[in-house]
Amino acid sequence: MSVNIAAYKLNEHIDVLIRTLDKGQCIGLPTETVYGLAADATNGEAVAGIFEMKDRPRFNPLICHVDGLAMARKHGKFNPIAETLANTFWPGPLTLVLPIQPASNIHDLVTANLSSVGLRCPKGIAGQIIAAFGRPLAAPSANKSGKLSPSRAEHVADTFKETDLLIVDDGPCEVGLESTIVKIADDVITILRQGSITAEMIEACTKVIPAFPESSKIEAPCMIKSHNAPNAEIILESKAPPHDVAYLGFGSYGSQLPNKNVLNLSATGSLREAAANLYDYLQKLDKTAVSAIHVAPVPHTGLGLAINDRLNRAAAPRNS
Ligand code: TXA
Ligand code: MG
Repeated sequence: MSVNIAAYKLNEHIDVLIRTLDKGQCIGLPTETVYGLAADATNGEAVAGIFEMKDRPRFNPLICHVDGLAMARKHGKFNPIAETLANTFWPGPLTLVLPIQPASNIHDLVTANLSSVGLRCPKGIAGQIIAAFGRPLAAPSANKSGKLSPSRAEHVADTFKETDLLIVDDGPCEVGLESTIVKIADDVITILRQGSITAEMIEACTKVIPAFPESSKIEAPCMIKSHNAPNAEIILESKAPPHDVAYLGFGSYGSQLPNKNVLNLSATGSLREAAANLYDYLQKLDKTAVSAIHVAPVPHTGLGLAINDRLNRAAAPRNS
């Protein structure tokens, strides 16, 4: 059975959390983006445990979470662009994929034997836990591979209810979408996954226009199309849903519908609110066991780009 620990009682529980990590076991870790399934990134057996719990393919590398630049520099090679990005956005929802330091003791399973490592410094109490542990934590989102990401501790507890898992419960995640992932190679910035740190924000501080990889070329498994899939079929850009389906509204779309299976991502049309509600509402509507969830149009600008990216993955054919 999984056990939730309230984040405000972190001081009381920090010793047991550190002991659990030291033993090579996983914990449920709250971050500002989504909840992670975290284990010692330097311990191969611990990392193997993450892959097993998630049913995750081993070729898909994990992000290493650090408590700041000093820890990050031991594992990734920072050029001036990477330094600028870390100084501007850390702690925060940005993952930097950098060449790995030859002396790094991060286990090969974490990087799937690539010559790069994904580094992220999360906001909030995750940073305190990593600092107390003193080593990076490998942490993918705490869902089964291919399923919806968890934005609340209850989602994690529900997925891993058969498992002994300590979950630190810090309430709903502030952002609700996974971090933006950028790869830095010399002076080239490539956005591997869109998130709440947008291309414009990255360009504004680095003066480099980020590239997007060609969609035909999978650079990271996070670019695989079907991802974050609910059980129901997802129909996008739907303005007038039939009565027998669930509807995920946005702004004025959905506010007038009589259907009981209707949730509105943000009645006021706020993209931030919509991002924070997205996974929770998709999970709630999916639990109603409807055959399809229709989704209102969400603007394709700013944070809306990352929201539409996740919706497209949820809607993609499941075997792609
Ligand atoms: O917001 C987040 O990033 C959350 C929280 C828990 O921090 N984590 C997360 O992890 O979304 P995950 O494993 O679900 O997604 C990480 C993605 C993977 O799809 C992987 O392909 C990519 O990051 N990745 C990790 N290391 C990489 C590397 N060295 N090169 C390219 N892609 C990498
Ligand atoms: Mg994930």
